[in-house]
Amino acid sequence: MTGDSTTGNRLRAEGLVLTYEDRTVVDGLDLEIPDGRVTVIIGPNACGKSTLLRALGRLLKPRRGSVLLDGAELARIPTKRVAQEIGLLPQTPVPPEGITVSELVTRGRQPHHKWWQQWTEADERAVGEAMDRTATGDLAERLVDELSGGQRQRAWIAMALAQDTDLLLLDEPTTYLDIAHQVEVLDLVRQLNRERGRTVVVVLHDLNQAARYADHLIAMKAGRIVAQGTPDEVITADLVHDVFGLASVVVPDPVTGGPLVVPGAPWQHG
Ligand SMILES: Nc1ncnc2c1ncn2[C@@H]1O[C@H](COP(=O)(O)OP(=O)(O)OP(=O)(O)O)[C@@H](O)[C@H]1O
Ligand SMILES: [Mg+2]
Repeated sequence: MTGDSTTGNRLRAEGLVLTYEDRTVVDGLDLEIPDGRVTVIIGPNACGKSTLLRALGRLLKPRRGSVLLDGAELARIPTKRVAQEIGLLPQTPVPPEGITVSELVTRGRQPHHKWWQQWTEADERAVGEAMDRTATGDLAERLVDELSGGQRQRAWIAMALAQDTDLLLLDEPTTYLDIAHQVEVLDLVRQLNRERGRTVVVVLHDLNQAARYADHLIAMKAGRIVAQGTPDEVITADLVHDVFGLASVVVPDPVTGGPLVVPGAPWQHG
């Protein structure tokens, strides 16, 4: 599918209302996901980040408004077609019982198969590369249920990579990972974006990682977007206070020069 220049970015939402039965989580949200960029969504617990991501990935049907892919309402595009374009790693994915890592990663290829088609070289390559990039090769024959939290997280990321979609939505992909694996996964996200021009949307809690990896940063609070733009534009002490109720100072990151959030007001420690 090619982007339609008359309708802006490939993935966007208009007047989005997202509810769970009587609870309205998102009420009339407009959103553009910039093509070929890494967008990071930040915001406090329960503000609606996962709800929004699931709607963008068509796991949740909007009550009103719509998510648009290439100008067409996502709800009207066949499921398989959506899965060829958008990969979604939910916050707490549930593995099928008794599945091994290699079987899980292989499932990422399903949207690319026709019922008559055999396993192809392209499938083999995509699965191999996904497992290499996530260092899950050694875990191939292990049961997903029996992995550590971090190993399991990497297996799911491998599955999402094997799906090989232009749009990738990752809900807290660094949860459970030690600091080195967190950096590895975020570097991988950046590589996928730079090398393949993929559009990635990531939910992150670590503001400093968000500032480092985002081209476009979206700050949410209570189901609304309160600020968006470059990390430099969005990450200020006022924003951190407004969104998280946290006193902080924002200083230049000694490595990147971007914003670095240091919690606590200086006078509290004086
Ligand atoms: N399946 C569900 N049924 C009913 N309410 C839900 C469901 N999932 C989420 N909610 C509610 O919707 C609101 C937003 O939840 P959501 O999971 O989108 O938050 P979040 O921003 O991703 O939070 P976190 O940072 O904790 O992951 C919360 O009040 C939550 O309790
Ligand atoms: Mg969440």
